[in-house]
Amino acid sequence: MSTNYNIVSLIRKKRNKIHLTSDEISFIVSAYLAGDIEDYQVSAFLMASFLNGLNTEESSALTNSMLHSGQIVDLSHIPGKKVDKHSTGGVGDKLSLVLAPIVASAGVPVPMISGRGLGHTGGTLDKLGSIPGFSTDMDLPRYKEIIQKHLLVLAGQTAEIAPADKKLYALRDVTATVEYIPFIASSIMSKKLAEGIDALVLDVKYGSGAFMKTSEQAIELAETLVGIGEQFDKKTIAFITNMNQPTGYKIGNWLEVEESIDCLKGKGPEDTAYLSHLLAGAMIYLGGKADSLENGIALSKRQTQNGEAFSKWKDIVAEQGGDVSFIEDPNKFVLPSFVFELKSSKTGFVQKIDTYSVGMAAVELGAGRKLITDVIDPGAGIVLEKKIGDKIEEGETILKAYTNKPTVIDEVTEQLFSAFSIGDEKPEAQPLVTHICDSNGTRAFEL
Ligand code: URA
Repeated sequence: MSTNYNIVSLIRKKRNKIHLTSDEISFIVSAYLAGDIEDYQVSAFLMASFLNGLNTEESSALTNSMLHSGQIVDLSHIPGKKVDKHSTGGVGDKLSLVLAPIVASAGVPVPMISGRGLGHTGGTLDKLGSIPGFSTDMDLPRYKEIIQKHLLVLAGQTAEIAPADKKLYALRDVTATVEYIPFIASSIMSKKLAEGIDALVLDVKYGSGAFMKTSEQAIELAETLVGIGEQFDKKTIAFITNMNQPTGYKIGNWLEVEESIDCLKGKGPEDTAYLSHLLAGAMIYLGGKADSLENGIALSKRQTQNGEAFSKWKDIVAEQGGDVSFIEDPNKFVLPSFVFELKSSKTGFVQKIDTYSVGMAAVELGAGRKLITDVIDPGAGIVLEKKIGDKIEEGETILKAYTNKPTVIDEVTEQLFSAFSIGDEKPEAQPLVTHICDSNGTRAFEL
């Protein structure tokens, strides 16, 4: 139990740019969760911290207090280093669905607690929810049982995991204090550290479809996340990846499951396969099943070629209540009845994609939520036929969109049309991964 402080004095201290002690931060978090201090007082603390900054000790105390506000899952009965991956969010980002079975099939336990879509970005939980019958709702004993049996579990956040983060996140959302790197990093890491992991791989995205718009912001976030991981004695590797266009060709919950099945069979799009093997390789390396990142990547590729990753995927789908016949034959899934094509008005090259707008168009089609109460249409989404650098003729199809909401088609067509810039010059190819960040610092990424 932390000491009882006067909340007004703590807000005043922070307002006057005096750093708070770990005990003081811990008091604010636990008193807020207990309902002993008011929303408006914590709002003032959040804004004062946002404006005057939190130092490393304060950020680490915030993470620690949110982490300990709930249960920390103990997976020590399962042999081996448990490793998870976290992505800061993007459009068409189905990498978790590909890498989780790969890594588990290579012998590294993956306890994965995922979230729902946020704004223009999709969420792993919604993608899994599009598999008929698949359930991510479970209590902790079931979570432990599944990971012990399959070295993999795919769950949603339970009420036991970092409840203070949930309460604080909701307050940040309505007080314009979400976009502050120490808050984002402590929020992400408090949940990840509670899962029972030993190590973590982070995919920190930048670009038009990411929350961090520049690679500099992404690097700052990655360094903060890695710093917290190291403080908690968890090996952490972050990759800075490009989200200036969607990952792969498919955007939308079931459509992304379909594309991830292609990847698990070695037939996926090049960017998706590359990123999946990179992140899976890093997880395998941190899990101690390879002695270098390169060998981790080679093992990841082997697990798709020999069919073990796909077989693991079918096992976990069946264990969590999903109908495996849809995984074996994805064409069984009936896509929405309204399909429309977006055609190019000129000949040239795709120069740029406003990926945020593409993500928001997918939400409008039914693939995401605008209100927390909205119900997702699992089949809604977009299938790109062209990506940056592709040649396109006038009248050729750029993409197909699927929806059950015919009334949104005109508006979404317009939105998608303005999201694609087509010009005469073929643009220079952009690297998919720019930097790697770990306990040795941040450096340009090269394989
Ligand atoms: N995701 C989180 O979990 N927390 C944040 O603060 C932002 C993104």
